Amino acid sequence: MKVFKTVSSLQKYLAKIDKNKTLGFVPTMGALHDGHISIVKKAKKENSFVIVSIFVNPTQFDKQEDLKKYPNKLKHDLELLKVENCDIIFTPETNEIYTNNIKSDSFDFNGLDKVMEGAFRKGHFDGVGTIVKKLFEIIKPNTAYFGEKDFQQLQIIKKMVATYNLPVQIIPCVIYREKDGLAMSSRNAHLTDNQRKSAPLIYQTLLKCKELFPEKEINIVKKFVKNEFENNKFLELEYFEIADTETLIHYSSKNKNKKYRAFIAVFAGTVRLIDNIALN
Ligand code: PAJ
Repeated sequence: MKVFKTVSSLQKYLAKIDKNKTLGFVPTMGALHDGHISIVKKAKKENSFVIVSIFVNPTQFDKQEDLKKYPNKLKHDLELLKVENCDIIFTPETNEIYTNNIKSDSFDFNGLDKVMEGAFRKGHFDGVGTIVKKLFEIIKPNTAYFGEKDFQQLQIIKKMVATYNLPVQIIPCVIYREKDGLAMSSRNAHLTDNQRKSAPLIYQTLLKCKELFPEKEINIVKKFVKNEFENNKFLELEYFEIADTETLIHYSSKNKNKKYRAFIAVFAGTVRLIDNIALN
């Protein structure tokens, strides 16, 4: 496993890879858990080489305190990736990527960035677009893997790739969950015992929505979700939306030709948890 911190040393190494081999890329911000590892395993199966980036991207944080407290577990991350026989790790310093100009580019994501996570985290998706485009340009992977855990991020990256004709294939990866259904996230470690015990309600509620969806109107499903969380003192609902899978536009009535997904964000104290599910 090769670890690189600079763009020039990484590119020198990548230039030697046989052009007939495929390079799969898994971008991360580190503090790796089994959800990340499930993506690395998939990328390993589907490519000749796999590169993982570990970079806590400052421009996608709307709150500076979240950036400051983002966990750094590099040593542990490298150990986990070694077990997976990961080929290449890119772990640059901020200046290596942003050369003293820590700023986002602005993107036109055709409205995908205006709802849900984009509405509640201003500037977040411009930051994500900026770093992912930079990393694609540095690494030039054949394939890049993104988790459906961050479904809106996945759709935004697909949109960016189409807009700029970037020569990379985006591969979606299913949400990896704890046994009790809670979607894996580095934030789960910050939950108190009571919050952690309540947190599976998020996925249970999404499953119930999937069950209700064929028969009930969208606003009935939304009311059901609101009720579920009003009755729980450890979890507070930030948003619940049912949206078109491709456009992420919210609807209040159903069209049987469309594919829908339910999206949820919940606060457990100061810890913000998100999840989503395909409804049809
Ligand atoms: P990060 O939160 O580290 O996530 C890296 C990748 O792992 C993302 O594609 C995310 O969707 C995926 N992931 C996280 N938890 C998952 C789970 N439980 N199941 C499946 N996949 C999961 O997302 C980012 O970093 C950043 O925004 C990044 C794309 C690296 C740009 O900075």
